[in-house]
Amino acid sequence: MTARQAPAIEVRGLEKSYGKSRVLRGVDFSVARGGIFALLGSNGAGKTTVVRILSTLLKADGGVASVGGFDLATQPANVRESISLTGQFAAVDEILSGRENLVLVARLRHLSRPGKIADDLLERFSLTDAAARKVSTYSGGMRRRLDIAMSLIGNPPVIFLDEPTTGLDPQARVEVWQAVKELAGRGTTVLLTTQYLEEAEQLADRIAILHEGRIIVNGTLAELKRLLPPAEVEYVEKQPTLEDVFFAIVGGERKSASVRTEK
Ligand SMILES: Nc1ncnc2c1ncn2[C@@H]1O[C@H](COP(=O)(O)OP(=O)(O)OP(=O)(O)O)[C@@H](O)[C@H]1O
Ligand SMILES: [Mg+2]
Repeated sequence: MTARQAPAIEVRGLEKSYGKSRVLRGVDFSVARGGIFALLGSNGAGKTTVVRILSTLLKADGGVASVGGFDLATQPANVRESISLTGQFAAVDEILSGRENLVLVARLRHLSRPGKIADDLLERFSLTDAAARKVSTYSGGMRRRLDIAMSLIGNPPVIFLDEPTTGLDPQARVEVWQAVKELAGRGTTVLLTTQYLEEAEQLADRIAILHEGRIIVNGTLAELKRLLPPAEVEYVEKQPTLEDVFFAIVGGERKSASVRTEK
């Protein structure tokens, strides 16, 4: 199969332990080009570990994976050229303005016309009015949007967003969701991790739940909802939420706090 036809991300039998703790015990999934794939799991499920492995920052103990059609083990440099990673904690420079942050990254990537690239991204992420302000004055949502904008410099075909909205207020989350939808609309493949069932429901065309080291469900939202018994008819027909599906499958007590705990 050529790099062009392969799925954007393919993961088979991924394993990773930290000491005696077996965090990933054979993780399998694949992500089609241009899709938004949500990796859902509670605190400590191993989401960041998966993202760090796929972005070549961490070596797996077992399994094979390819990103952008390139094999992680044998072509890590090609993988790095195909991706960008927006980590769980924003990586923007507080002292610089939003525009300066973008120009800096464009220069570091040796792109021509860094100012134009910065201005286009500021516009796309509704940050034009705040462009000249120091990032230290930005709200959490603005920082996240800037962080995502920075990760798009150079147009990587695959982007990883590790918990893009954890800690944001509802308004800021909606703004980040719009930004993510917009980039998938342009053909970028997005793998995002989240603890928020609602986020996966809003954004992703495929959702996988990582639990006890394995993917226990993987499907579209509609497929996941079909795993539940039919909707109950009370006065109005209640559709199952992804949260209902999660607890039906994980089989635990329905205590949202363990899934939604903020950092
Ligand atoms: N460098 C490390 N050394 C030892 N244990 C680690 C290390 N990194 C992660 N772990 C452990 O591996 C498990 C998975 O961690 P990971 O950060 O991948 O989870 P996560 O799903 O991203 O969680 P969160 O939602 O809190 O971000 C956790 O139990 C964590 O404590
Ligand atoms: Mg994490």
